[in-house]
Amino acid sequence: MPADDDKYPASTGRRRFVKGVVGSASLAGIGTATAAAVNSTTNPVGGGGGIVDFYGVENTGGPAPRAMPQIPLEIDSEGYLKGIFPEPETRTLESGAEITVAEMELGGITYGPKWFQYCGVQTFKGVRPEADQDNYFRYIGNSKFDWQNENVEDGQKMHVDDFDDYGSWGNGIGQSGLGKPAQGKWRSQDVSGGETLPIEVIRSERIEEQAQGNEWLSASTEEGFLAHLNKCTHFCCVPTFKGLAGSAAAGGADQIYCQCHQSTYDPFSIVEKSFVSLPRPEE
Ligand code: FES
Repeated sequence: MPADDDKYPASTGRRRFVKGVVGSASLAGIGTATAAAVNSTTNPVGGGGGIVDFYGVENTGGPAPRAMPQIPLEIDSEGYLKGIFPEPETRTLESGAEITVAEMELGGITYGPKWFQYCGVQTFKGVRPEADQDNYFRYIGNSKFDWQNENVEDGQKMHVDDFDDYGSWGNGIGQSGLGKPAQGKWRSQDVSGGETLPIEVIRSERIEEQAQGNEWLSASTEEGFLAHLNKCTHFCCVPTFKGLAGSAAAGGADQIYCQCHQSTYDPFSIVEKSFVSLPRPEE
């Protein structure tokens, strides 16, 4: 039996932080952004909104306007899955005001909680740069997946070993062997008021293959694991990959399918998009 250090990768130390004043890129968005975004760039307390580039699972059908954002992840030395979240830092605006920012360069793009600031998530404590969370992915209870309901519990941390059969797993919806999904939550421990950040994790050989030589995917996925914020970009429902038999009628049996208005997303087509993220409210 291999030692844990052999079985699971050590932390890759891929975090890289950028220091300095808020750059011209975010300020340049003022010309075309909404009034809310303008407020975010000029408001030293609330903030984090504006035009942002992100990577996500491609929207392939239905009324959803864009991809759902990926959550870059890593696996700790014991085999537990964690989302990557930048360390908060204080920056000084040209006006002299100070703001707290969580942003990092990762896989060729600037990544931070702005990626998730839509559908009300911008008001959640978990997306605040300074929110004290351990970043582990945890299962939810009553998921759409029998394997999850039978084998793990609400709040349990997701572990690599739970997905051992990912190369063959199936549940009768679409093709077996494409990938094994789980429904979870992130940065939501001990947060009251229903501010649970819904996530979906999929482990797939396709992801493993695509990550080879791909700067973004090799930085944001590990051992075939991919995670995304699970809020449909249409009207914020929570979709699933192989969670509903009815998805076949919309051509979504092998895609992430949103039951509300039949939007589909392809977890094996990661695309770079941009959108106007909403500012976090003031404390
Ligand atoms: S398709 Fe409308 S909320 Fe998802």
